[in-house]
Amino acid sequence: MSTVIKGGTIVTADRTYKSDVLVDGGKIIEIGENLSGDETLDASGCYVMPGGIDPHVHLEMPFMGTHSADNFEIGTRAGLAGGTTMVVDFCLPAPGQSMMEALAIWQQKSGAACSDYSYHMAVTWWGEQVFNEMQEVVDRGINTFKHFMAYKGALMVDDDEMFASFQRCAALGAMPLVHAENGDVVATMQQKLLAEGNNGPEAHSYSRPPEVEGEAANRAIMIADMAGVPLYIVHTSCEQAHEAIRRARQKGMRVYGEPLIQHLTLDDSEYSNPSWDHAAQRVMSPPFRNKQHQDSLWAGLQSGSLQVVATDHCAFTMEQKRFGVGDFTKIPNGTGGLEDRMPMLWSTGVRTGRLTMNEFVAVTSTNIAKILNMYPKKGAILEGADADIVVWDPNRSKTITAANQQSCVEYNVFEGREVVGLPRFTLTRGKVAIEESTVKTEPGHGEFVGREPNAPVGAALSKWKEITAPRKVERRPELMPAGV
Ligand code: URP
Ligand code: ZN
Ligand code: ZN
Ligand code: ZN
Repeated sequence: MSTVIKGGTIVTADRTYKSDVLVDGGKIIEIGENLSGDETLDASGCYVMPGGIDPHVHLEMPFMGTHSADNFEIGTRAGLAGGTTMVVDFCLPAPGQSMMEALAIWQQKSGAACSDYSYHMAVTWWGEQVFNEMQEVVDRGINTFKHFMAYKGALMVDDDEMFASFQRCAALGAMPLVHAENGDVVATMQQKLLAEGNNGPEAHSYSRPPEVEGEAANRAIMIADMAGVPLYIVHTSCEQAHEAIRRARQKGMRVYGEPLIQHLTLDDSEYSNPSWDHAAQRVMSPPFRNKQHQDSLWAGLQSGSLQVVATDHCAFTMEQKRFGVGDFTKIPNGTGGLEDRMPMLWSTGVRTGRLTMNEFVAVTSTNIAKILNMYPKKGAILEGADADIVVWDPNRSKTITAANQQSCVEYNVFEGREVVGLPRFTLTRGKVAIEESTVKTEPGHGEFVGREPNAPVGAALSKWKEITAPRKVERRPELMPAGV
């Protein structure tokens, strides 16, 4: 059965024009005037955009002694309700566990997804087995490997492991991702704060200042350059990390930065709230920053030095957050955001004039599809592309509240925010999943999206630095020190 999306204005990353869109068999089959199909969706007064892609979510993830509360079914439904038609989750082998074993667990968990999804593979330990398995992971359509520079004693990898893994990525045509925070410094600061009696959620942000993120971002960039791989820095939250990315890009290095909608719109005053629950709900890493850092992130999206807006959706219930009463280091790190990313970014970005509509599409969808190597199957309104489409009504509004959200947690960090701009329809591979506030999602409809590796780069990425091959110097024996 074919569907025509009629009377709307198509907005892509590079064009805005009036046209109908005909969809059949899950694909866009025609774009043009006066099209007809078996079913018609009225898009008058709306923008027809590529569905959002969230490149950074954690659904049902084992973490900090528990599991994030939203599973693949709930998480992808929340995404669809907010115009996001694809998510990329992190497959997380436990230290010592085989990547293939972890992948089998993730495949099982994502079986009930309502929208398409892909995975990044995390490198949580290093050894010959990991080195070998990385090839198989790439063969299975996963071309991105995540490295945690924080969470010491749990997920963190050291510099030698990171360098080895980055070199392996280079050889395989894969791209490393990093969570950039100096985990050693964070662990020391946490112990100092606790010893001084600072055990509340506000101390979480004192233990992870912008400097720990800036240092780690710089370090990862230099290591990536030596390994000759591109680098993607997740949840870029501060000027120090953004500065490192800007500088690297200016030198010709392929380094990408991903701010979160939370860091763009919520600031560190949230941790001064007298309610423990309120502050703990907002504990995530990196923590929320001040207004100057927020301005830096917005400037990065505007100028292109930051390319992508994600959520890092990792929701925990209040019961889980309260594991950390009396010790902030035990508050599970993470917040939700999947349902709110697109409406919040539209409201605070497009409606304020900070972003054009085309830039909105780029940072929520098209850039992500390109960087993660799935364009134009995803992230495009083009004939032949998957019909992952959001029909966006710029005049629909609501007040965000946990009472009406898809996520199963009992609060929302954007509670009370008025958003203007919401989906009228969200289509996942041609199927209408959301029609205004009616949810028609189908658990199990979602499919895994495999992503090809890139051609191995094989040399340093920067054009400014000459890599010299190591060469052993032949020394004249009479000039050697005695006794050698
Ligand atoms: O606090 C966060 N961001 N939790 C999710 C795991 C991660 O570091 O991305
Ligand atoms: Zn588990
Ligand atoms: Zn992280
Ligand atoms: Zn994350």
